[in-house]
Amino acid sequence: VHYPALADKVVHFFKLLSKPLVLLDATAGAGSHAEYILRSLPIEKLILMDLDPDAISYLREKFAGDNRVLIIHGNFADLDKYIAKAGIRGLDGVLFDFGVSYHQIFSPQRGFSFTHDSNLDMRFNRSSSGLTAWDVVNLYSWWELKEILEKYGEFPAHIAERIARKIAEARSWMGNIDTTTQLADIVSQVLSHRGKIHPATRVFQAIRIEVNRELDNIKDGLDAALRSLLPGGIIQAISYHSLEDRIVKQKFREWEKEGFGRRLTKKVVKPSWEEAKEHPTVRSAKLRVFQKEADK
Ligand SMILES: C[S@@+](CC[C@H](N)C(=O)[O-])C[C@H]1O[C@@H](n2cnc3c(N)ncnc32)[C@H](O)[C@@H]1O
Repeated sequence: VHYPALADKVVHFFKLLSKPLVLLDATAGAGSHAEYILRSLPIEKLILMDLDPDAISYLREKFAGDNRVLIIHGNFADLDKYIAKAGIRGLDGVLFDFGVSYHQIFSPQRGFSFTHDSNLDMRFNRSSSGLTAWDVVNLYSWWELKEILEKYGEFPAHIAERIARKIAEARSWMGNIDTTTQLADIVSQVLSHRGKIHPATRVFQAIRIEVNRELDNIKDGLDAALRSLLPGGIIQAISYHSLEDRIVKQKFREWEKEGFGRRLTKKVVKPSWEEAKEHPTVRSAKLRVFQKEADK
């Protein structure tokens, strides 16, 4: 089962709002945070949103019959529109838990991981006709690849260039690069394997961010959340790498400066030593919390 990162902290912050709550879990995934929230807080309505149709089917089954729960398939970048369309006047709180779910990582057909040999896909929304990892790996020029590796994989320019050129070179003799293990093998030829983390990890991160326009969605999603929030409402965002966290940090700081409310976490909240030890997947989780001005 999926372990909900920092769930006790998330509940602690929502408890500051002492009344029946209308909350949105904008990245409901396997519904583990949702389950914890339903158990721990006075909930009037919990809206569960996800971009992944597989997650939506799973959530429908898991929460069938719970009339506090409303499930919406959609992109959180447009969450304010979905909320308005559902006839909800405003939200007391919004939770974001960015990144890939356990289900997605371990579904061999989804292509998020190179521990299984699978097609290069990586779309959160498989029912969309949008860009796939295959398109990025096979159709981008080496300098476009270099750019996304630098920007989204956080590689130094010269390493990004070496990986990008190696991918382009492999295409010229292999024809297409079709699977996650083929890609991981090509990357291993450039980056040697040091420590516990496979060298292809950040290459996969970069491609995933490109495929799903993740950083743009995070920016738009945070703005949409602020618009949908009732006065005094709370936004909580859990990030797993520095690119995500930087966006959240800057947004919250900017909002505070503009007088929209205040940060409840001047310093980022991380899992306890015990939580990180017991659940290595949430080791890198970072929570930031913002409260909207009470009467504005
Ligand atoms: C780390 S998982 C969330 C796990 C969830 N908190 C739980 O307890 O099971 C992140 C989820 O966000 C979803 N997601 C990613 N980008 C999204 C977007 N732009 N809009 C809506 N959902 C998105 C993914 O499909 C994935 O299911």
